[in-house]
Amino acid sequence: MKAVINGEIRDYQTVWMEDDVVCLINQLLLPHRFEIYRSRGYMETADAIKNMIVRGAPAIGATASYGMAQAILEYDSEFNGFKAYLDEVREFFHQTRPTAYDLFHAVEHIYNKVIESSDIKDARQKATKESRRYAEESAAMCRRIGEIGEDLLENGMNILTHCNAGALACVDYGTALSPLRMAHYNKKKMHVYVDETRPRMQGSRLTAWELLQEGIDYSIIADNAAGYFMSKGEIDLVIIGADRIALNGDVVNKIGSYEKAVVARENNIPFYVAAPHSTIDFKCKSGKDIKIEERNREEVLGMLGFDRERKEVRKIRTSPGGSNARNPAFDVTPSEYITGIVTEEGIYKPDKIKKLRDNIRSILS
Ligand code: MRU
Repeated sequence: MKAVINGEIRDYQTVWMEDDVVCLINQLLLPHRFEIYRSRGYMETADAIKNMIVRGAPAIGATASYGMAQAILEYDSEFNGFKAYLDEVREFFHQTRPTAYDLFHAVEHIYNKVIESSDIKDARQKATKESRRYAEESAAMCRRIGEIGEDLLENGMNILTHCNAGALACVDYGTALSPLRMAHYNKKKMHVYVDETRPRMQGSRLTAWELLQEGIDYSIIADNAAGYFMSKGEIDLVIIGADRIALNGDVVNKIGSYEKAVVARENNIPFYVAAPHSTIDFKCKSGKDIKIEERNREEVLGMLGFDRERKEVRKIRTSPGGSNARNPAFDVTPSEYITGIVTEEGIYKPDKIKKLRDNIRSILS
């Protein structure tokens, strides 16, 4: 991803590993400050996922794969206790965030690759190599989603997106934003309507930042304005990412996605979801079976913002003290509202998602 830092254009990935240190673009500070967070141990990496220094399904997955590698590098006891340790670490990562499937997919991938190791040296080599391969393959799948999804975008289109499904939510390129990036590189013009995405503001903070870096035209809109623009004929297509997709094509994504899909249907606007196969939980029959993360109510009762004088992120209260609040982080969009799911293997009708399982060519299957 392109990032203009102090006037210099640089190419970044969201997450990478240097020796035993996991490096992350610190998403709590964007768009106000660009800083790399360095995690020196697997517990710290798990905390970075929990506290949303890194967020977005494929980005969480790649971070967890590096975190697993860190845990294996840290192990310094007898090899006969290694399996029990690995089981514990796996569970530790599972507890960080419950909904995004890529996390579980990545942890399982590394676990399965190292569990049959002959000794700790072998396990360490495999963990280092496989975690890097996982992240590289994840980026490649997102790139492919962009190349495939670009065909949906005609010159001059107005596109609505929700939350951040860009490079910051992945290792690179993005899911929903990847087709937009590719279209932009191929000189197609577009205007992107960016839902601000209460309560964590991933749209106005992160999607807007990414589009700005790329020079793609956009307008931030209040979440509740999307229906207005759709009804006025100002939106030609909606594209979002996903945190988990069920076998019946139901999609779990950031809270508010469901209502956008319903309003899109009401206005005959195509509604696409973009995700790599690592987001699809083939064991899960329906969206109803997916656990929805409910986050701290404080996120709804106030807002985070950047205090330019103190140069720090601060919280302000926007509601009466003593108020109660509910804060589900995701919702389920039933498959009937989805026009197509853009994957690295092509665009699938949601009711054909089972077929994708047979077509996966990725090393991560
Ligand atoms: O709570 P977050 O910020 O991790 O939620 C992220 C989203 O809902 C994204 O839209 C989703 O992960 C798809 S993006 C690749």
